[in-house]
Amino acid sequence: MIVTFLGTKGGTGTTTLAVNTAADIRRQTGRPTLVVDLKAGCGDVAVFLGLRPRFTLLDLIDQLPWMDRALVPRYVAEHECGLHVLAAADEFGRPAPKDAESIEQTLRCLSTIYDFVIVDAGSTLNACTAAGLHQADVVLLVANPDVPCLRNLQRLTDAVRIAGVVSERLRIVLNRAADHGVLPVAQIEKVLGRTIDFAVTSDYRTVATAVNTGVPVSGLRPSDLQSQLDALARTLVSTQMAAS
Ligand SMILES: Nc1ncnc2c1ncn2[C@@H]1O[C@H](COP(=O)(O)OP(=O)(O)O)[C@@H](O)[C@H]1O
Ligand SMILES: [Mg+2]
Repeated sequence: MIVTFLGTKGGTGTTTLAVNTAADIRRQTGRPTLVVDLKAGCGDVAVFLGLRPRFTLLDLIDQLPWMDRALVPRYVAEHECGLHVLAAADEFGRPAPKDAESIEQTLRCLSTIYDFVIVDAGSTLNACTAAGLHQADVVLLVANPDVPCLRNLQRLTDAVRIAGVVSERLRIVLNRAADHGVLPVAQIEKVLGRTIDFAVTSDYRTVATAVNTGVPVSGLRPSDLQSQLDALARTLVSTQMAAS
């Protein structure tokens, strides 16, 4: 199963949710699980997990068209929780539009090796992130409860649909849903004309501890945030089980 997280704006928590959901899926299932960082230049999935990978997504896609499944383990880093990571490129200009087809091919190959492939697509819709959308069984749009995100959410839900993601594959996650001064969920749903699928509370202390120690939220002390991420991961796992 491929699950792609796409932010409606930088800083909405796309990487936080992608990394922690992936780690939680791994914890819940014990199944082979990989998180892939599509960001060019300064993707931080590996950093969130305290890893220093030797190879990146680019090293792997540059093996195409001769890429062999047997090569994949060489290019991924492993966190102590068992989650595998395909780190972001360290070139600022790549992955570039010319890499989009290679990314699609790579994701297809990875999904034959891993039960769960979680893609952090960042917050830009381009040829490469569209590759992550095309291959996804589920696309999660990540928004914060504020006016800019709401506006982008309306535009992105249309753009994502035009890019071929049918509404049954699309879910909306409202991150930092319980901050002060935010738009109420009911108001957001009314403007969007659809329901919010998951709401995740604001808890900077927990996410900052996770990032600064390289321990996913599922490995920290129990919190509301942890239970909500657990529920998100559980829903994705049951979607995969229902499909297989
Ligand atoms: N639920 C949350 N509660 C509090 N802070 C959060 C939450 N989710 C993310 N953050 C913080 O927001 C900032 C941006 O998160 P990040 O995952 O890097 O966003 P993005 O990948 O969308 O740019 C980080 O400082 C992160 O710790
Ligand atoms: Mg990010």
